[in-house]
Amino acid sequence: MKFEFTEQTNNKGAVCVAIFADSKFSDAANALDADSGGAIHRAIEHSRFSGKTGELLEILAPVGVSASRILVVGIGEQSNDMALAWEAFGASVLKRVLSSGETDLTFVTGDLDASYGARIAFGAKLAAYRFDQHRTTLDENKKPSIALVRIQIAQKKQAKALFSSLNELAEGVYLARSLVSEPGNIIHPESFAAQIQDLAKNGLEIEILDKKDMSKLGMNALLSVGAGSKYGSKLAIMKWLGGPKNEAPVVLVGKGVTFDTGGISLKPGNGMWDMKGDMGGAAAVTGTMRAIAGRKAKANVIGIVGLVENMPDALATRPGDIVTSANGQTIEVQNTDAEGRLVLVDALWYGLTSFKPCRIIDLATLTGAILVALGHENAGLFCNDDALASDLTAAGKLSGEPVWRLPLGSGYDKLIDTPNADMKNIGGPTAGSITAAQFLKRFVGEVPWAHIDIAGMAWKDKRPDPRESVWATGFGVRLLDRFIAENHEN
Ligand code: BES
Ligand code: MN
Ligand code: ZN
Repeated sequence: MKFEFTEQTNNKGAVCVAIFADSKFSDAANALDADSGGAIHRAIEHSRFSGKTGELLEILAPVGVSASRILVVGIGEQSNDMALAWEAFGASVLKRVLSSGETDLTFVTGDLDASYGARIAFGAKLAAYRFDQHRTTLDENKKPSIALVRIQIAQKKQAKALFSSLNELAEGVYLARSLVSEPGNIIHPESFAAQIQDLAKNGLEIEILDKKDMSKLGMNALLSVGAGSKYGSKLAIMKWLGGPKNEAPVVLVGKGVTFDTGGISLKPGNGMWDMKGDMGGAAAVTGTMRAIAGRKAKANVIGIVGLVENMPDALATRPGDIVTSANGQTIEVQNTDAEGRLVLVDALWYGLTSFKPCRIIDLATLTGAILVALGHENAGLFCNDDALASDLTAAGKLSGEPVWRLPLGSGYDKLIDTPNADMKNIGGPTAGSITAAQFLKRFVGEVPWAHIDIAGMAWKDKRPDPRESVWATGFGVRLLDRFIAENHEN
């Protein structure tokens, strides 16, 4: 799909225009209405359309214009920051016409601010993502038809330049969605690592540690999770040093369990297939690294992902086994299904000791309990540093990928004590997301650290947001990219 920014208004195919709340017309809407002999005003008169967000009227074969259809779309109340509203507008229109048979789509915006014009294209691109390459029998009339998206805008040069960065961000989101969407027989630790190796062509410096390397470093917590898999566990490191020399980097760490059966503590079979997405944290980190390299961010950022498959097998870790992590702490694995934290602590250790970060942030589909607490609306944020928590919360609001902070505390910490080792990998029956975070906290020390539990966000069966075009959302890429841009560039 091609994106074009143009001043010119003679349109073909689908043409679309935004209307503000209470049917307020912009100059662009008035002009299009006049060209079509008042078709937009008439359509609004004959419907309950009032310009609320998400309302949409479709006028087919209008007279007086060369366009084959006009889409009239509500964008809601005017406010100071309409970036997300214009994004959603672009997304909802694209979603509506993607497989309509039209090949051309034009957004008529007139003298709209260039940054908003770029947001429209970004929203449209997010909505255009598909995961249908494994379908061999898709009906011809269900296939995407839109090939060209044009943004008609006075400040076309500025809009185009702003979109080129957002396009890189969208490519990062696409990559994360693909990694999460692909099943465990296609994306496993070895193929995931190979895809990361390919990102060298995007300007990232890549290093891959294999089982032998990690064994030498004593990363036995991570290795214990992959012990039952036929695929070799990997640790992949992606470096982007676009900031000042000698400035401590931000380290991003991702849980990359390419399939989570639960191991010997086997999960029930119903719905287990969605554990192909249990590498959502690693996908978010990989997509973010792709995005910041693509837009040449002026920041030092290191991405580290722990890639393992959690399988039951004769060689698999048993419940009750005691493993020693790379930083020397011992862990009693009471439940092999609480495996994500075992992967994370060794990956966190690697990030802390190798890169001396200014801040370290991990993302993980870590607990089912976070779904009970926050549903699919917010990711759970756990943090040992108020400034970091507030920066992440702000980036969440700005990017449309929100996080909600939950508490840590010594009372929760006690719940993972065990007489048999330094700690066990599960807490009591309550506060499951918090005890998981407390477990991680025992490995991070004084460095500002945040843990983001994205188990409710990495994939969604129901998706009212038109930007989320498939089951895999790519959650975390827009959040982290925005966090870096707002706090660690320039
Ligand atoms: N990958 C799961 C968490 C998960 C559950 C993600 C549902 C997305 C949707 C994780 O490894 C896990 O199995 N956690 C257990 C922990 C328990 C054994 C302490 C859980 O949440 O049940
Ligand atoms: Mn598990
Ligand atoms: Zn898991």
